[in-house]
Amino acid sequence: MTAKRASFKNFKDSTAEDWQLIAAEYIEFAARLPQRVLDHLRLLEGDYGGFPVDRLEHCLQTATLAHRGGEDEEYVVCALLHDIGDTLGSYNHADVAAAILQPFISEENHWLIKHHQIFQGYDYFHHLGMDRNARDRFKDHPCYERTKRFCDLYDGPAFDPEFESLPLEFFEPMVKRVLASPKHGFLAQRD
Ligand SMILES: [Fe+2]
Ligand SMILES: [Fe+2]
Repeated sequence: MTAKRASFKNFKDSTAEDWQLIAAEYIEFAARLPQRVLDHLRLLEGDYGGFPVDRLEHCLQTATLAHRGGEDEEYVVCALLHDIGDTLGSYNHADVAAAILQPFISEENHWLIKHHQIFQGYDYFHHLGMDRNARDRFKDHPCYERTKRFCDLYDGPAFDPEFESLPLEFFEPMVKRVLASPKHGFLAQRD
């Protein structure tokens, strides 16, 4: 059976009936977002890039450390997904993760994810001839300490081949809950 589709060739000619059809499809599509995100995260498996553990294992270790550190569910999901942009954001992976998560998380966690790379740089930028203190430009920002803490406690230590991380399945229900419905943006559910 052929799926019913809108008939317009130009947005300008679209009708209310078209948009009812598209909106119904969109609701089902959006509901599958957590699964698509998890599938995309799995692309990091086996991708080492020279690091001691692959990128999926690094994400699992970061999330496991955050969970064991007593962080709340939203934070743990941010920790799990903070490097999901590595596949498509080769030059700005933090922006990719921040954009995916932005509708679902607090401004503080969004800022943390978006800036984690430049904060992490304190530990290695100088080995590459770059300024390890690049993060200093944010020293007066209210999220400076929060982001530094994420790098020091969770992201930075998450490269241990001996570490026993929790499996992705452990975090799946958390991802599904946090990404269930947007809190921000023009498509956020109205109270
Ligand atoms: Fe990162
Ligand atoms: Fe990381």
